[in-house]
Amino acid sequence: MENVRINCTKNGPYEVLGEVTIVDANGRTVSSIEQKAYYLCRCGGSKTKPFCDGTHSRNHFQSE
Ligand code: FES
Repeated sequence: MENVRINCTKNGPYEVLGEVTIVDANGRTVSSIEQKAYYLCRCGGSKTKPFCDGTHSRNHFQSE
């Protein structure tokens, strides 16, 4: 099994590195085999959930 790393970025998304399968709330796989880095929203404001779309910056999201 390949190592997967999740970094909590400062005032931003979760950075997910490695081979992962990401499934949305409707059960649809939204990751691809080729992609090895994902940025997942943790501010709740993204319009492209589960992915970050940069809204955290406009909302001045504070991670701590
Ligand atoms: S963390 Fe970037 S839009 Fe939510």
